[in-house]
Amino acid sequence: MHNNIDTIKKIRKAIEFYRELGFVYMPVKKSRIAEILSPLASKPSEMKQHSGAGRTVNGQEALNLLRENIGDCQRCKLSGGRNTIVFGEGSPDAPLMFIGEGPGRDEDLQGRPFIGDAGKLLTKMIVKLGMKREDVYIANIVKCRPSYNRNPEEDEINSCSPFLLQQIEIIRPSVIVCLGKIATETLLGVKTPISKLRGNFLDFNGIPVMPTFHPAYLLRNPKAKWLTWDDMQKVMKRLT
Ligand code: URA
Repeated sequence: MHNNIDTIKKIRKAIEFYRELGFVYMPVKKSRIAEILSPLASKPSEMKQHSGAGRTVNGQEALNLLRENIGDCQRCKLSGGRNTIVFGEGSPDAPLMFIGEGPGRDEDLQGRPFIGDAGKLLTKMIVKLGMKREDVYIANIVKCRPSYNRNPEEDEINSCSPFLLQQIEIIRPSVIVCLGKIATETLLGVKTPISKLRGNFLDFNGIPVMPTFHPAYLLRNPKAKWLTWDDMQKVMKRLT
């Protein structure tokens, strides 16, 4: 009897935990219950504090579960043209998170964000700033490639962005950098041109957000690189 009450308490805590992370349903197989409960059973040394409320969660575990929850996503029409879902990558403890628009051809083939030409420029910038790519987190507004690299459409953004919001909630970075118009408009809900917004911090749920140019734009307009470099100096200052 006592054991049953303990189990029910654990299950209730687990459900609250996943609900706070934004999950709306849990397709749980009986055989997986022990595993699902395991974040709550982890030793304190294996946990990381993520939220301002002082809640302790295991970030990598939460990201893995989120990825599992996305599954072989068919929630929008982008699923029809993709090869791979590009979930995002980097450290669950990242102080800095970059958000782009959506995977391009290379990303779609390899399942990793920002690895094509624009990604190489972004990686170079990260390294020049004295960081490693593995130490930051890189994600996109949509996780599947829009064909011919068109902009993602509103219904696609609406289907996919809840997953990004959950990634942000799990990682709780100190600063977010929005790369380009789509990321900035989606996260901040503003339509002001990026050329006017860039260089100043805005706020997303208490996290400072720096909008700046998308690396693909910088490849086409190399003279603007120094503006993004300037924006990144402000970001680095915020991080110290
Ligand atoms: N452009 C983006 O916005 N995201 C990527 O992952 C690659 C290119």
